[in-house]
Amino acid sequence: MSAKKAEPQYVLGIDIGGSGIKGAPVDVCQGRLLADRLRIPTPKPAEPEAVADVVSQLVDHFEWSGPIGCAFPAVIKAGVTATAANIDESWIGFDAQSLFESRTNCPVSLTNDADAAGVAEMLFGAGRGHSGLVILLTLGTGIGSAIFIDGHLVPNTELGHLIIRGKKAEHRASARVRTENDWSWQQWARRLDEVLCNVAALLNPDLFILGGGVSKKHAKYLPYLTMDVPVVPAELKNNAGIVGAALACPSFTNSGPGDQKTTARQTLLQAVPS
Ligand code: BGC
Repeated sequence: MSAKKAEPQYVLGIDIGGSGIKGAPVDVCQGRLLADRLRIPTPKPAEPEAVADVVSQLVDHFEWSGPIGCAFPAVIKAGVTATAANIDESWIGFDAQSLFESRTNCPVSLTNDADAAGVAEMLFGAGRGHSGLVILLTLGTGIGSAIFIDGHLVPNTELGHLIIRGKKAEHRASARVRTENDWSWQQWARRLDEVLCNVAALLNPDLFILGGGVSKKHAKYLPYLTMDVPVVPAELKNNAGIVGAALACPSFTNSGPGDQKTTARQTLLQAVPS
């Protein structure tokens, strides 16, 4: 009889972003941080070795020796960062998993940052219990996307790169663009609405979840959106990336508690069958 592989309960979640790299140990069965998170500014330029230095600092800070889940703002294929829209272009085609593992001596798993935030929201936040087609958009430096079909993640979607009237969606309506142009919430909401309407026309979602730092300010822009599709703010706020990075971490150990969340998490992480 073969023993069933159990999932690890505690994972160091690390969220690598354009301005900060944040980490904390996460209880993946409860979806909560086990300690205050530590944020270290993203080095400039954010080249692989410099980012790996920060990842090692986080590991040292938490005296960590277990599995690590990293959320990263790029398409991720088998531990390789395939794109780099908002991070140094030296990451394109780079084996980030091998670098982080050699620098930390820990098993590392990488996930697209929006996919990670989406997994966290679907299990512990605004997407809990929602079936059908759910789309989470993260509104930050860029626009990231995570698509779920009946709880199954379709990984590495890039709806922020959808071209709308000759320009990428993330260059029209990310949170950064709002700040750079000093737009009012209403002015920005009009642009965001255009992005959401285009996505809705193509994919007909049952629910949009809007994440990123601006989800805290949802009362200022949600009232201006015009679609019929329900739109709700993300609930996990700044910690969605850290929690999601840890949740998206596959099984690294043969021991650990079995729990119904584990099953739900495995379902979330299965790609939609072709
Ligand atoms: C990247 C995505 C990422 C998003 C949010 C986009 O520019 O292409 O992979 O999820 O920014 O960070």
